[in-house]
Amino acid sequence: MADMRVSFAGVDFKNPVTVASGTFAFGREYAEYYDLSRLGGICVKGLTPLPRGGNPSPRIAETPMGMLNSVGLQNPGVDAFIRDELPFLRGFDTKIIANISAPTPEDYALMAAKLSDAGVDMIEINVSCPNVRAGGMAFGVTCEGAASVTAAVKKASSVPVMTKLSPNVTDIAEIARACEDAGADALSLINTLLGMKIDPATGVPILANNTGGLSGPAVLPVAVRMVWQAASAVKIPVMGMGGVSRAEDAAEMIWAGASLVSVGTATLADPYAPVKVLEGLEKFLDEHGLTLEGMKGRVKLH
Ligand code: SIN
Repeated sequence: MADMRVSFAGVDFKNPVTVASGTFAFGREYAEYYDLSRLGGICVKGLTPLPRGGNPSPRIAETPMGMLNSVGLQNPGVDAFIRDELPFLRGFDTKIIANISAPTPEDYALMAAKLSDAGVDMIEINVSCPNVRAGGMAFGVTCEGAASVTAAVKKASSVPVMTKLSPNVTDIAEIARACEDAGADALSLINTLLGMKIDPATGVPILANNTGGLSGPAVLPVAVRMVWQAASAVKIPVMGMGGVSRAEDAAEMIWAGASLVSVGTATLADPYAPVKVLEGLEKFLDEHGLTLEGMKGRVKLH
């Protein structure tokens, strides 16, 4: 049997399959389907310093092979997460990754300090949400913005920090390097691609926010390309996500340079998707005589 364990930024994952932030809430609904301890890790819904109700509806739209969302970081706030959700998640033998967003680097740092003290395993710095006016993607589309938030969080955190990158940039390699230089222990990518859907009969955008983030199988090739470019530009490890719904998609991510793989939108259609990707990947490795380490970043370019 293939060795599925992954050491990632100093954290030992039992397997490389995690679930992506924003597609798994805080795990309660999925725990009714299977034991969350089967997962390598859980990236929780994006947290903010205070509770947020999110954007007005409609905030989800189906697209060919994907979906648009403009949820707008609906969440109960960092304090409620620590009080009400983290103890539940800690009941499972899996790594807990807290995804954080805030309007200023100082606010990100305050959240990171609280979450480190509360005992999460890693912090994922969200500088890539396309659906909020303050913070989010505004930080992640410049080297200075991404680096300033990464540096502030790194200083305040006692657990490894991972910066989640936006695909809505011209040069992902330079943003990846800026985050590494600012102290990131790891990178995750991609967040969603900024998109728009218009009712063809009325001319009115489907989403109340007009635009939203595109995810799902349609974005997989973009994600694989960007994981490859980012992983090739840095020495820190990468968690790859964006359109992963099958074991073969996870394998592509690993060839491109990902150490961990996250399943996101697929889970909304099939709650078992992360487990199927995990079990399928194990079988795939055995059938092809491959190992995670032997594949990672070793894409055989033409
Ligand atoms: C949202 O809540 O709007 C999505 C979160 C994200 O894209 O980071």
